[in-house]
Formats: sequence, structure tokens, C-alpha cells
Amino acid sequence: MSGFSAEWLDLREAADRAARNAALRDAVARAFARREHLAIVDLACGSGSNLRGLAEFLPARQRWRLVDHDPALLAAASARLVAWADAAEESAETLVLAKGGRRIVVEFLGADLSAGAAAALDGEIDLMTSAAFFDLVSAHWLERFAAEIAARRLPLYALLSYSGEEAWAPPHAADVEMLAAFHRHQARDKGFGAAAGPRAASLLQEALERRGFAVETAPSPWRLGASQAALIEALADGSAAAVAETGEVSARTIERWRRARRAAAGCEIGHLDLFARPTTA
Ligand SMILES: C[S@@+](CC[C@H](N)C(=O)[O-])C[C@H]1O[C@@H](n2cnc3c(N)ncnc32)[C@H](O)[C@@H]1O
Repeated sequence: MSGFSAEWLDLREAADRAARNAALRDAVARAFARREHLAIVDLACGSGSNLRGLAEFLPARQRWRLVDHDPALLAAASARLVAWADAAEESAETLVLAKGGRRIVVEFLGADLSAGAAAALDGEIDLMTSAAFFDLVSAHWLERFAAEIAARRLPLYALLSYSGEEAWAPPHAADVEMLAAFHRHQARDKGFGAAAGPRAASLLQEALERRGFAVETAPSPWRLGASQAALIEALADGSAAAVAETGEVSARTIERWRRARRAAAGCEIGHLDLFARPTTA
């Protein structure tokens, strides 16, 4: 799970979809239910999983701008969306998809968001969204992003920010030590300055409430069991590799934990979803 390969994002897509908080997703759907058309920007879109998870809850005509800095992931997003749709028309600039009675126009924007999201915010936008991204950015980045969307009065639906809570079954003697080191690795610079990690959702909530947004958050944990063994194994390997990079836990302990965790019966990995709406003029 090092880096963000399309294969890793494929592995987590079903778990991500099951984890999304349904009550908050329904609140997002209700907020736009009277609209015929919606323009959505998805930051750090990866291979397009957020669009595939959200489109059926949004109006019949949608225009998505999918933004990522990784051209391979944008190409993977295009291919996966064509495969997912009932019908697809590709042109040089857009993809026009038919899916479940909806018409979804998709444009792709290759952009490095490390200096801010301004490049992604041109033109008509009704909803900003992003999944599994805000825990990578810094507190400073989140503050600036909150100012950018407040200036444009843009609602935000942010999904699957890592909350820091993990519970593995059965417990292992090294769980606490491993999680503490993993959290320190989470706070490392991921290209945006020291990463907000598990603080991302609360920092975003606070920054947006200060700017007059009404913000709701709700848990969206992965609850993984025997049928998601491949994802559990990848998580165990990824966490062990991250902890090894910190140098804080002995190689022997890491390897014992990794082997036990690859065979875990299940685990719960905490995330938070957030829906923020501007309320003041
Ligand atoms: C955990 S993945 C989530 C992908 C997708 N949102 C999903 O839910 O499957 C994080 C994403 O952030 C993107 N990313 C990381 N750094 C970035 C940057 N500086 N600019 C734009 N995208 C970035 C990665 O390419 C990757 O697609």
C-alpha cells in the first residue's frame, strides 16, 4: 500500500463504498435533490472511486471535474469509468457517461494540489468533494482550502478521512506500540508539509465553522472481515512498512505483528465523513 497505485485503490473501493456514512450521504443527496444539474469537483480523485460511489445519489445530469497529480491514475479513472458506465462516449477533452438513467460528463485535470486547490476551482461549481485525501495535507493547507471554498461559498463533502482509531481482532501485544509509531508516520510530509493525519476532519470542521459553514461529521469506519482478506493483508503490510520507516519499533516486533495481522480475523479502521455548507452571506 505504499504510494497510491490503481491496484491499491481497486482493492479498497468496495470497502470505501460500504464505509461511507449513509445518513450523511443522504443529507448530501437531499441538499441537491431539487437540482436537475450539478457541477462537482473531486480533488485527488485517484481512479475515480468517489464518482462511482456518489453519482447515483446526485441529480440526473452531472458534470464532474476529476483532479489528481498522477497521470497514470487519471488514465485509470477514465478506463474504469468507461467500464462502469452503461454507455460511454470519449472525446479529446471529456467523457460522457450514461449510468442508471444519469448523464455524467467527466473532465480530467492533471494538477499538483500541494500549493493549494485554486487551479481546480475555475468556473461553475456546486459541490466540492474528496475522498481519503485530507489526512495527507497539512493544517496550513486545510486552513487555506477552507478560505478558498468560503470565498466561493462552495459546499464540501469530504469522505473517509483517517480518524486514527484502529481495532484488530484478535488483539496483539504490539498493537499499541505499532499504532503510535504509525501515527507518527502519518504526520510526515506527504508533499503538503507535516500531514494533518487523524486531525484532518476536526481541523477542517473548525476552519469551516469559523467561516460560517454548518458542518456535520459522521463516522465511516472500514469494518473488514474474512471476505476482505486481501485488503487486511495489504493493510498489515502497509502499516508494517510505514512503521519500519520510523525506526521506532524493532524489526522483530514489526515482523511478528505483520504476520499476525495478515492473518487477522478482522479489523476496524476509523474514518470520518464531513458535509459542510456555507450559511452566512
Ligand atoms: C488515498 S488516495 C485517494 C484516491 C481517491 N480519492 C479514492 O478515494 O480512491 C490519495 C490521492 O491523492 C492524490 N494526491 C496525492 N498528492 C497529490 C498532489 N500533490 N496533488 C494532487 N493529488 C495528489 C494521489 O494521487 C491519490 O490519488
